[in-house]
Amino acid sequence: MPSLTLDTPELAEQYDQVSDLQYEHGQYLLRGLALKPGEALLDVGSGTGRLAEYAARHYVGAQGRVVGVDPLPLRIEIARRRQLPQLSFAVARGEDLGRFADGEFDAVLLNSVYHWLPDKAPVLAEVFRVLKPGGRVAISTASRERPHDIQQVLARVLARAGLGRATSSGSTSFRVSHAELARQLEDGGFFIDEIRLRRFPDHFPNVDAVLAFSSASSFGNFLGDFVPEVRERLLPALRHELESLATPSGVLLHRNLHFALARRPA
Ligand SMILES: C[S@@+](CC[C@H](N)C(=O)[O-])C[C@H]1O[C@@H](n2cnc3c(N)ncnc32)[C@H](O)[C@@H]1O
Repeated sequence: MPSLTLDTPELAEQYDQVSDLQYEHGQYLLRGLALKPGEALLDVGSGTGRLAEYAARHYVGAQGRVVGVDPLPLRIEIARRRQLPQLSFAVARGEDLGRFADGEFDAVLLNSVYHWLPDKAPVLAEVFRVLKPGGRVAISTASRERPHDIQQVLARVLARAGLGRATSSGSTSFRVSHAELARQLEDGGFFIDEIRLRRFPDHFPNVDAVLAFSSASSFGNFLGDFVPEVRERLLPALRHELESLATPSGVLLHRNLHFALARRPA
């Protein structure tokens, strides 16, 4: 179960610096949402608010509204530095959007958040409730059937450490398959417009950058499914394995994400 108590000011600041990958994926999702000036968007799991600010600036404009919520207070603190009249942030979990009225939003976004949710149904129920009839939801999530390269690297490290039977997600524990995502959305009452699996080559300048990205993106949960002594043992081994993959131009790791667009029936 991912912990929401392991974040630190350093990790939160680091995420704001190293989250270009999520930022790009989020921009792709936003294009699919096709927001119009004047519309209201809720960004669930907004993190430090980069994408929410982008949506406020480039989509909904001064007549619109973007609200970002995230359970991590340190990330919301950073998000609140983004000063635009149409942009605001609050500390909240996707499972409890009680601060918002039924039908308050034209669109809801969950970018790189869904794979952190142990139980999807309560969050989808809240998203459905706060959307207007006909409102859209966009989700990007790590894929269960096509794990990221880092997961394969980890599997090799575990095997070599004599932990061949253990499985570790590294961080994103609650990935979904295409079929699971489709069923969850349909069970939540949504009509699906599309679900697309996309593969991305991620170029990291060096091994430190891979580890910094993994720690900051997982708000301290990277390798969190191991007790501290095992983690201590695995980290140098993981570093070593990643170093063996490094080329003069850096470390290339692929990630695979589902992108879903769905709507609340009108
Ligand atoms: C990888 S970050 C993505 C942040 C942001 N959406 C972005 O695109 O940069 C994952 C975020 O999910 C948030 N999160 C984790 N559990 C959550 C929950 N139950 N409800 C809402 N957000 C959650 C974390 O706090 C974290 O900020």
